[in-house]
Amino acid sequence: MRQHVNPLSKNFFEVDPIPPLNQIFENPKLPLHLDVGCASGDFLFELSLKNKNWNYIGIEIREKLVLNANLKMKSRENNNLYFSFGNANNIFSHSNNKSITEFITSISFNFPDPWFKKKHHKRRVIQPKLINFLSNSMKKGSLIFIKTDVRELFDHIELTISESIKFKKLAIKDVQFYESFNPSRIQTNREKYVILNQLKIYESIYKKI
Ligand SMILES: C[S@@+](CC[C@H](N)C(=O)[O-])C[C@H]1O[C@@H](n2cnc3c(N)ncnc32)[C@H](O)[C@@H]1O
Repeated sequence: MRQHVNPLSKNFFEVDPIPPLNQIFENPKLPLHLDVGCASGDFLFELSLKNKNWNYIGIEIREKLVLNANLKMKSRENNNLYFSFGNANNIFSHSNNKSITEFITSISFNFPDPWFKKKHHKRRVIQPKLINFLSNSMKKGSLIFIKTDVRELFDHIELTISESIKFKKLAIKDVQFYESFNPSRIQTNREKYVILNQLKIYESIYKKI
């Protein structure tokens, strides 16, 4: 399976709207966490089984991974998890999805694709337009969690988010305290690899103020 797809390709201009929360979750009133770039969804399957008091949505641009995750959903009784296929940037800006953003308690960007070459930086998922949209539509107190093992990408993300006056960076010591969507600190597949190979993880949390 191809590891990378170009998120700016016209294949990803059209996105399916996420159905209203009461159609996808047994209890739509639970706090909602979004994981952007959820890949196979392993992380979310584990989280959603352990934390029945949260709802989770995974967004992934590789269609095959989402199809497989949805097949896996059919064989399980999972009423607090939903997978959405597409470019997160377009999913957020889709008119039907805008209202969902108001219900988000937290979002994680776990190990986003680094797109190392300068000419590819525009393919990175965290872009000024996305941050601007989130800063205007997420509710006060909601959180954004960032993790990456690529220092240069981390600096780029930090710079992009710091340009919004509506997000305040929290001290890293607060990570544990605030990681309420993942109290048992389940690791993503990339995180397991990074830890196994003793690479450094850069992380930050932002709060909508
Ligand atoms: C390096 S992988 C990390 C996967 C997982 N979060 C982890 O930590 O193991 C990055 C994932 O983000 C997805 N992705 C990249 N750009 C995206 C975008 N614009 N919208 C949604 N998903 C995207 C990729 O297809 C890939 O599955």
